[in-house]
Amino acid sequence: MNDLPRIFLTRELPPKSMTKLQAGSRLVFNQEDRCLTKTEIIQGVRDADGLLCLLTDTIDDEILAAGSNLKVVSNFAVGFNNIDVASATRRKIPVTNTPGVLTDSTADMTWALLMDAARRVSEGDRLVRSGTWSGWGPLQLLGADISGATLGLVGLGRIGKAVARRAMGFEMNVKYWNRTRLSTEEESRLGVEYASLKDLLAESDYVSVHVALNEATRHLIGAGEFESMKPTACLINTARGPIVDEKALVAALQSGKISRAGLDVYEREPSLEPELSEMDNVVLAPHLGSATIGTRTKMGNMAVENCLMVCAGDRPVNLVNPDAYV
Ligand code: DGY
Repeated sequence: MNDLPRIFLTRELPPKSMTKLQAGSRLVFNQEDRCLTKTEIIQGVRDADGLLCLLTDTIDDEILAAGSNLKVVSNFAVGFNNIDVASATRRKIPVTNTPGVLTDSTADMTWALLMDAARRVSEGDRLVRSGTWSGWGPLQLLGADISGATLGLVGLGRIGKAVARRAMGFEMNVKYWNRTRLSTEEESRLGVEYASLKDLLAESDYVSVHVALNEATRHLIGAGEFESMKPTACLINTARGPIVDEKALVAALQSGKISRAGLDVYEREPSLEPELSEMDNVVLAPHLGSATIGTRTKMGNMAVENCLMVCAGDRPVNLVNPDAYV
């Protein structure tokens, strides 16, 4: 029993993942439904072999230094911008994530926001609930067409591709911009056409963001980019908030440089630019991309397996920093 690894978990996971983790470790975890403070995380990692953390935990150099026995940082997310990976690599600590299992639910959420923003579902919901709806009207809450429109995907990794596959059912023209261009065969299989970012922004009715957040993509979509977009365009972001300059987004919506937005992520979660919540042409979700029971359970199981594998001396499947082994 005592040779089981000591794992510190920053917040409770879905029940099946908790059972797995409890069976394979000496587990200490935050039993309150809230994010831990940095001091609490430092306290928790002091004698832990493994840290299992969330995208809401900023795991910086100071925390990694405090965890002098840490063998692994396992992130319960596909994105890992919350972790100082360079510091972990210097310290030879493998960092792992949960790719693949949340692709479909995040792509579905992208479509939920796109369709809501286009067809004004949340606005309509508010109208009906307000008790002031006076009945059907020919000019009431007119939205934008989706079928046949142009969808621009900024980033075409797993989630971008899943969004593109769903767009086929709507017979959309799908353009994409990505660091590396796909093969012609894959482009035709997905029904997507490569474009420069500038052309994609200028030609798309819907622009959906699917790049990872890093120094190269922070504020990738800002004032200059909104300037290039159609005044009727709609921006969707289910990736990471800081990829979009949120103040510039507010200004673009206010000045009519673009027409609507559907957001699942924000620059400084859980805060957001206050004007956003006043705008009827914006659909706001609280970072729900992967929030289905099935997906969160798969993410939890994957994060637990990654964590326990490294503690058992094995190389994890979902390794973010192979240089930690060099
Ligand atoms: C991730 O895993 O990065 C998602 O944002 C979680 O919802």
